[in-house]
Amino acid sequence: MSKLIESAEWKAVKQHHQQIAGKFCMKDAFDKDKHRFDNFSVTFNDLLFDYSKNLITEETLPLLIQLAERAKLKEKTEAMFSGSIINTTEKRAVLHTALRNRSNTPVYFRGEDVMPEINAVLSRMRVFTEQVRSGAWTGYTGKAITDIVNIGIGGSDLGPKMVDTALTPYGKEGLKAHFVSNVDQTDIVETLAPLNPETTLFLISSKTFTTQETMTNARSARNWFLKTARDPGHMAKHFIAISTNEEKVKEFGIDPRNMYEFWDWVGGRYSLWSVIGMSVALYIGMDNFEELLMGAHLADQHFRTAPYQQNIPVIMGLLGIWYNNFFEAETYAILPYAQSLKYFADYFQQGDMESNGKSATVNGDKVDYNTGPIIWGQPGTNGQHAFFQLIHQGTKLIPGDFLAAAQSQYDLPDHHDILISNFLAQAEALMRGKTEAEVRNDLSHEPNLDDALIASKIFEGNKPSNAFLFKKLTPRTLGMLIAFYEHKIFVQGVIWNINSFDQMGVELGKVLARAILPQLKNEDVIDDHDSSTNGLINAYKRLRKA
Ligand code: F6P
Repeated sequence: MSKLIESAEWKAVKQHHQQIAGKFCMKDAFDKDKHRFDNFSVTFNDLLFDYSKNLITEETLPLLIQLAERAKLKEKTEAMFSGSIINTTEKRAVLHTALRNRSNTPVYFRGEDVMPEINAVLSRMRVFTEQVRSGAWTGYTGKAITDIVNIGIGGSDLGPKMVDTALTPYGKEGLKAHFVSNVDQTDIVETLAPLNPETTLFLISSKTFTTQETMTNARSARNWFLKTARDPGHMAKHFIAISTNEEKVKEFGIDPRNMYEFWDWVGGRYSLWSVIGMSVALYIGMDNFEELLMGAHLADQHFRTAPYQQNIPVIMGLLGIWYNNFFEAETYAILPYAQSLKYFADYFQQGDMESNGKSATVNGDKVDYNTGPIIWGQPGTNGQHAFFQLIHQGTKLIPGDFLAAAQSQYDLPDHHDILISNFLAQAEALMRGKTEAEVRNDLSHEPNLDDALIASKIFEGNKPSNAFLFKKLTPRTLGMLIAFYEHKIFVQGVIWNINSFDQMGVELGKVLARAILPQLKNEDVIDDHDSSTNGLINAYKRLRKA
């Protein structure tokens, strides 16, 4: 057994779980303790984090905190913030927090302060975004830019897409941001169809500048542009590269003056805060982009300094461990009651699953406990009409987070209170449930009451959820929220003793695809894989010409 499972701290949580599971009733706990909400909620700036609707007693968090202390969370947090090589397999520091270090205090990596180079790129971003937004930067025919197309995938796509969507009310009128990620040509063909090459700016966003999907899309974008512009010299006004790989950028034909750099100590799924956020800065302006950074910076300071009992990302992480490892919950739902956050769960699907979907520890041992949960979700109220049935009455325990803003960005009558009443009601219903006695009471007027009907209307309740309620979805609040989730992932990775910052699990498929691609280029019958892969390749070759 692993040291983690054998530790006194783990055993103490396990014993506590045995006392609680199947016995603790949240509804009774609320009835007994009128201060449960006060005791189990934290306010931070304009944001309230309520974790009182969880299967926890006063004892739970202190026991979980001991797990965090056993894992040396404090020391490891400092190691991350101060540029230690905590991504040990790739021998890299993990310094996305430096990108949003608005205090500008020095952050040293290999003895050198990284803040001056971060600030230099931010300044270049400001100059460029202001030129584009003001119309001073024009396309090759002298027209202002109206459309930005970010070409990237994974961390070079999901973050900017999520944030641009979330902050639409802050976006510049007359400027639209588009995102192309899938190598399926449908994505780029349909995105470019309505656009004018004279007024379109491409951001080729790729840390490595070798990612197959991104480079294929980038080449198609170049062809599309040159079909009209003809002269490759015109690309200088329409193609921007965002990367760590200068050589590959030049090789592609992008003017090095149009290259914006970041560094290998920025992980792909944590790169939103770097110049990967260029489409965000172009769309909402540099002041707002810096507000986003500021929100994340405030969350960083909170994570670094708040006592664990009051520390939002630590509590989020520990509650996640509580359900994942002790209640054996397999998934975790992210449920924003905010249409603007429609890509928030998608973003953290990569953020969490690529970070913590690991089964080897940092020492190379195979884990004997569950690691990262399956992350999923979509905005309410749509989710209510799709999958909430299963959360309420299915056989699986699905903890999750509700997120909502007290103020909408718009002012139509009725909508917002209806939205918020649904969020509050769902969280309440999950917690309270509905007993057989309540069902019988409701149906007392029915002449022919059958047991099946009664059973179908019973809600077990006792289903846990957290709630984030914030004043308004501003750039600053969004920055805070994102950073809280990032640190939650970190906390869990530390307790599971895994490296949350590599992603070796995406490699094997890439290698095999490289071997298969040439086999698709001819009409030979393929027989060197397993019979299923051979069968599928050969069927594809037949069907594509049928
Ligand atoms: O999915 C694997 C991955 O390496 C992610 O971690 C990364 O965000 C994405 O591919 C894109 O990589 P790049 O920015 O190098 O194109």
